[in-house]
Amino acid sequence: PTSAVSLTVNGRRHTVTVDNRTSLLDLLREHLGLTGSKKGCNAGACGACSVLVDGRRVNSCLTLTVRLDGAEVTTIEGLARGDELHPLQQAFIDQDAFQCGYCTPGQIMSGVACIQEGHTGSEEEIREWMSGNICRCGCYVKIVRAVEQAAG
Ligand code: FES
Repeated sequence: PTSAVSLTVNGRRHTVTVDNRTSLLDLLREHLGLTGSKKGCNAGACGACSVLVDGRRVNSCLTLTVRLDGAEVTTIEGLARGDELHPLQQAFIDQDAFQCGYCTPGQIMSGVACIQEGHTGSEEEIREWMSGNICRCGCYVKIVRAVEQAAG
C-alpha cells in the first residue's frame, strides 16, 4: 500500500506518494535527491542518517515517512544560510573534526540538536548525547571540541 504525505524539508513543501514502508532516509536520498544524510547501518545503530524532525533528532532510517504528514524536517543541506555556514559546520572545519567525512552530516545534525537542547554543560554530557553517532576514523575528541566551539 501507498500513502500521500505532505511535509516540509529544509523549508520546502513536498507532497509525495510513497510505499508505506519507505523510511525518511530513503525518501530524502531516493525521492528528493538529498544525499547528504548517509546510510551506514540502516538499522538505528550508527547515526549517519541523523536529521531533525520538528526540531528533534531522529535516525531517519528508523522513521517511517507515512508518520510525517505535516512535519518539518531539517537535513544537513538545510543548515547553511546562503554562503554562510551554520556555526557548527564552521566549527567542524576549524577543529578538523572529520577524516573520511561519511559520518559528518549525521554528527553535525546530532550536534545541532545537542546545542539546541542544551546538553553542552560538560564534555561528558556532549559525549553522552553524541554517543549514538559512530565515527570509524575515531575523530571523537575533535567532534566534541567542535560542538563546544559552536555552543560558545
Ligand atoms: Fe540510520 Fe545507521 S543508517 S542509524
